[in-house]
Amino acid sequence: MEKLVSSWSKNKPLPESYIFPPETRPGNLIVPTCKTIPVIDLCNAEGRNRTDIVQQILKASQEYGFFQVVNHGISENLMNESMDVFNELFEMPDEDKVILYSEDPKKSCRLLTSSLNYDREKVHQWRDNLRHPCHPLQDCIKHWPQKPIRYREVVAALSIEAKKLGLRILELVSEGLGLESGYFGDQLSEALHLFVNHYPPCPDPSLTLGITKHCDPNLLTILHQGDVHGLQIFNNEEWIGVEPLPNAFVVNIGNQLQIISNNKLKSGEHRVVTNSRVARTTAAFFIAPSEDSIIEPAISLVGEASVYRAFEYKDFLLDYLSHMGNNEVVLGRFESQSLNNGTPVNALLIQRGSKFELSRLDHGPDYPSRLKGTLE
Ligand code: OGA
Ligand code: NI
Repeated sequence: MEKLVSSWSKNKPLPESYIFPPETRPGNLIVPTCKTIPVIDLCNAEGRNRTDIVQQILKASQEYGFFQVVNHGISENLMNESMDVFNELFEMPDEDKVILYSEDPKKSCRLLTSSLNYDREKVHQWRDNLRHPCHPLQDCIKHWPQKPIRYREVVAALSIEAKKLGLRILELVSEGLGLESGYFGDQLSEALHLFVNHYPPCPDPSLTLGITKHCDPNLLTILHQGDVHGLQIFNNEEWIGVEPLPNAFVVNIGNQLQIISNNKLKSGEHRVVTNSRVARTTAAFFIAPSEDSIIEPAISLVGEASVYRAFEYKDFLLDYLSHMGNNEVVLGRFESQSLNNGTPVNALLIQRGSKFELSRLDHGPDYPSRLKGTLE
């Protein structure tokens, strides 16, 4: 509990344990404001503007893996009320927050700080985080916070709307990819998790991060980032800031959507920077496959070659957690060409004319220790 940034950080200097190494710290970098991700108006998405909107979503998902949506149908009132409730939660006195705080990974609803890895990580992230599942609502709502008093009512309403919006966007994505209607329905989008992130004002934003560079592991993320800057995406080797727009949601493609689209869409890498003036609170809804879903590229998108092999979503999550932040390595482990699932192999390749022999020197359990063949 004393670890929560919101509980100890007021008027304190930045502790050493929050200082990132020079190569990952944000520095005094001014991110370009002329570049930003597309803003897509969902007004009439089910009517005369549909084809145009589908194309805009597809293009943004290919280029950035990120876009914002406006006129999405979720009321301004509900968005504001939810943000008020989330802010109130982090402003509660410590005796109320201590009830939610837990280091037990089995607890489905809990308040924590930095990451799941607090005790093992080299540097801590400048954020507190409340997380819980939102589906099925009647099972999980009883584990949600009881304070602020309106939390359950308001967040239940928002989570239902966020899921509906997510499914609507997934339907537009499936249309853009030429997949059948409802492709992402059922199992692939069954789960819904909420992260409420809170980044208190930070004494030195140039040295630390709210969240380090990552991709989201799920299918699609719907983020309400409030009205404070902080989210940046990594595109074409540079960081660009995501402008907070009133009543907009930020949408991003998760790893599973990149995989199912056989790399036609990309899961955008992003991070969160802090600021010294105001606290920032955001709410991210993660639409995800159920844990035992089989994930694989859609057959009609495979063409010449399937970039990824089939796997169970829960296996991806395990790898994601152990390689947090290294998107290439995690995706690499699920590529169909990957002989070794990403772990370096100590092997010897001997080629004589068209004959080859590959000997594995470390005799792992999954692969033959020697492979012989003829090159065509
Ligand atoms: C996340 C995330 C962005 C933000 O929770 O995965 O990227 O602005 N959040 O809080
Ligand atoms: Ni994220």
